[in-house]
Amino acid sequence: MIDYIVNPELSALEFINVLQRSGLAARRPISDMECIEGMLEGASLMVAAYDGDLLVGIARSVTDFHYCCYLSDLAVDQAYQRQGIGADLIARTQDELGDQCKLILLSAPAAVDYYPHIGFEHHPQAWVLGPDAIPKRKP
Ligand SMILES: CC(C)(COP(=O)(O)OP(=O)(O)OC[C@H]1O[C@@H](n2cnc3c(N)ncnc32)[C@H](O)[C@@H]1OP(=O)(O)O)[C@@H](O)C(=O)NCCC(=O)NCCS
Repeated sequence: MIDYIVNPELSALEFINVLQRSGLAARRPISDMECIEGMLEGASLMVAAYDGDLLVGIARSVTDFHYCCYLSDLAVDQAYQRQGIGADLIARTQDELGDQCKLILLSAPAAVDYYPHIGFEHHPQAWVLGPDAIPKRKP
């Protein structure tokens, strides 16, 4: 049986570990501890899935809870995938948000067919600005 906890106490190592077991670690800065700790401290909403004491899934979001919610990291341990845990993590994230709040995300290549399958709509007008895309202004 899987237990879900909203805003769990999570160490950087536990977070990295579930990213590794899911396969998402290849696309996250797991060797940059300052960044990983900042991702945990700056998250506004996290939902975790546990099998006993083992963290088997995580949804980490940045949100205002009313208008938009950026679902930055959705990861389920490979041994637990295709059991509905990812969809549950998203549903439980939505449960914490206001009625008008949209979920927004960037899909990992391996998950491009997942999101439409569970009801997400592809948005052709989405844009991303990388940290070095525009030269930084001098202070
Ligand atoms: C993508 C991921 C979060 C899905 O979690 P999950 O718990 O395995 O998915 P669920 O069990 O909730 O799947 C719900 C439905 O989507 C389907 N599905 C699952 N993964 C899928 C995929 N990669 N492509 C298409 N459909 C998929 C399931 O078969 C299920 O279908 P059904 O309702 O018709 O039976 C998980 O596979 C994962 O962690 N992947 C590696 C990390 C990653 O890519 N994360 C996304 C970052 S944006």
